[in-house]
Amino acid sequence: MIIRKAESQDFEEVFGLLHEFIKEHRKYDKHYYALLPGPEFKKKFRARFMKYPRSRSQFFLVAEDQGVIVGTVRGEVQERHPGFRSEKQGYISQLMTRKSHRGQGIALQLMAEALKRFRAKKIKRAVLRVDAGNLPAKKLYSKLDFCDRQVIMTKYL
Ligand SMILES: CC(C)(COP(=O)(O)OP(=O)(O)OC[C@H]1O[C@@H](n2cnc3c(N)ncnc32)[C@H](O)[C@@H]1OP(=O)(O)O)[C@@H](O)C(=O)NCCC(=O)NCCS
Repeated sequence: MIIRKAESQDFEEVFGLLHEFIKEHRKYDKHYYALLPGPEFKKKFRARFMKYPRSRSQFFLVAEDQGVIVGTVRGEVQERHPGFRSEKQGYISQLMTRKSHRGQGIALQLMAEALKRFRAKKIKRAVLRVDAGNLPAKKLYSKLDFCDRQVIMTKYL
């Protein structure tokens, strides 16, 4: 298995995976994960995805096993308020492993590569959001020494 940056020709495969990822998340918050109908969602996702290969502040990694994309993770360098000691932070999102390949350490490898890329940019703090009910992901992040520092509270209006 290799971990590499996504390229534009990976779009269809990654889109399929991420569509599943979002649908799978509805059990955690059906309002937050409500998707735009078919073509609209795809169009918007494509526009974002096509920027990743050349972006300086974002990267999108894929795990590829025998020509098949089996996992993804996205990283973004975020600027913080200049009053903070560390002005930049690495934001992780869209971590997922194809269902057929779970439990083989793929997410851990994707996370390790994403964190390595942040460290190479001298970033000292990595952050992510996880649904309160997503116990498998929370366990994974704990294993990597992520801990609860702040809580995002949500109210629908
Ligand atoms: C969470 C997810 C990314 C884990 O992917 P994976 O490749 O199967 O994870 P790994 O094999 O690297 O597992 C690493 C560790 O995570 C934890 N873990 C992973 N899956 C778990 C599960 N189903 N139950 C409990 N702990 C789990 C374990 O601590 C595991 O280490 P261990 O096997 O030594 O106990 C995967 O289940 C997934 O894609 N879920 C849907 C998308 C998602 O929720 N992404 C996170 C968004 S915040």
